[in-house]
Amino acid sequence: MEQATMRFPQGFLWGAATSSHQVEGNNTNNDWWEWEQQPGHILDGHRSGLACDWWNRAEQDFDLAREMGQNAHRLSLEWSRIEPREGEWDDDAIARYRQMLVGLRQRGLEPMVTLHHFTNPLWLVEKGGWETETVVPLFERYVTRVAEELGDLVELWSVLNEPNVYAILSYAGGRWPPGKQNLLLAFKVLSNMLLAHGRAYQAIHRLQPRAKVGIAHAVRVFNPARPDSRLDRLAAWIPDYIFNRLVLTALTEGVLAFPLALNRRVPDLVDSIDFLGLNYYSRDVVAFDVSRPGEFFGRRFYPEGAEMSDGGYGEVYPEGLYRLLKRLAACGKPIYITENGLPDEDDDQRPRFLLTHLAAMQRAIEEGVPVQGYFHWSLVDNFEWAEGWTLRFGLIALNVETQERTLRPSGQLYKEICQANAITQHMVERYAPEVLDKLFPAQARAGRQSIA
Ligand code: FCB
Repeated sequence: MEQATMRFPQGFLWGAATSSHQVEGNNTNNDWWEWEQQPGHILDGHRSGLACDWWNRAEQDFDLAREMGQNAHRLSLEWSRIEPREGEWDDDAIARYRQMLVGLRQRGLEPMVTLHHFTNPLWLVEKGGWETETVVPLFERYVTRVAEELGDLVELWSVLNEPNVYAILSYAGGRWPPGKQNLLLAFKVLSNMLLAHGRAYQAIHRLQPRAKVGIAHAVRVFNPARPDSRLDRLAAWIPDYIFNRLVLTALTEGVLAFPLALNRRVPDLVDSIDFLGLNYYSRDVVAFDVSRPGEFFGRRFYPEGAEMSDGGYGEVYPEGLYRLLKRLAACGKPIYITENGLPDEDDDQRPRFLLTHLAAMQRAIEEGVPVQGYFHWSLVDNFEWAEGWTLRFGLIALNVETQERTLRPSGQLYKEICQANAITQHMVERYAPEVLDKLFPAQARAGRQSIA
């Protein structure tokens, strides 16, 4: 029987994603750095420190990405480096970013640039960070400056990274700086971020009419524990509405819906994405639970027997990617998967994870969903926020002490997929034969018959 192959569209972007604070090192002028210095905030007392030393050696990792057959990379710019004090621009920092972007292009890696990925300059924090609308013109000014300085090198902008996650973990969950626990404030922060997105979208387009400006939106699957229970369905609908839908409604219809505001219409936000970036990691099963008003009467858990990634980070659920892509197609915009990955230090799950998630994506593409690129989180192990160095997401392993890099087997597999722009039966047989049945059922059946 012939080798079965799943192909991806021509010109598909294959890359990995990173963020400034997680890889650059010595980002001493932002709120995360300060947070890391205080005991109890980061698991095992870890700190970002030199991180992956990208400020000095990003190009070495760009070389590795190119050698892996990637043709794109998603990275973020550090506001606290570019504008270290309010209204003051650091030309050296801007020049370094220019050098990185040129470096990506020279290696045939199309950059996708994020303008805010969780970290804030200390001067902004002193002014109240994202808690008041004061931030909106400040962010717009920063974005304008960046687009003026670097726009000639960037066509793809994912303005904000996961504003929903940022607002909830920093302002309601208390786990990220500034460590607040106030849900109403979290909604205010999310509103301000969306307002800032609207301004940034318009500002970039004024300077670069042909740029493609979008967002990296974290969307999680919430499944009712018992699909036939109305209460469970409601308990799953609420987090879906708050976490997933509020942002989408704002960016497409231009409306800050309740509880962000009382359906405030914001002209800058109407149709303010040229593409939708999807960050997909996992799902929750949700059961109605009257004893949990603080969690909107939903008890969230992982199904029994589910495959979990390192540190109980989340369930491995590739079907969720397919389901979300089908659902998000309704936005009518091109889609990039701006993050997808799992913590897996010994790499015993990542090869299978890659194959099953990419197959789910391919199935959605075959059914007409306009997915134009995939950015795996992440290229190299990096500083994982409150989990410090305990979770390893890289296709490339990092020895933090020596800065030595080692390609993981999943990195080798990803290289083969990027180079072939396809998944082949051989790859599955070599890297995760246990899913051959799922990915290539006819070939698996034929194989069994020939053995018999
Ligand atoms: C996402 C973040 C990214 C990384 C991954 C694991 O929520 O955007 O910075 O931490 O999770």
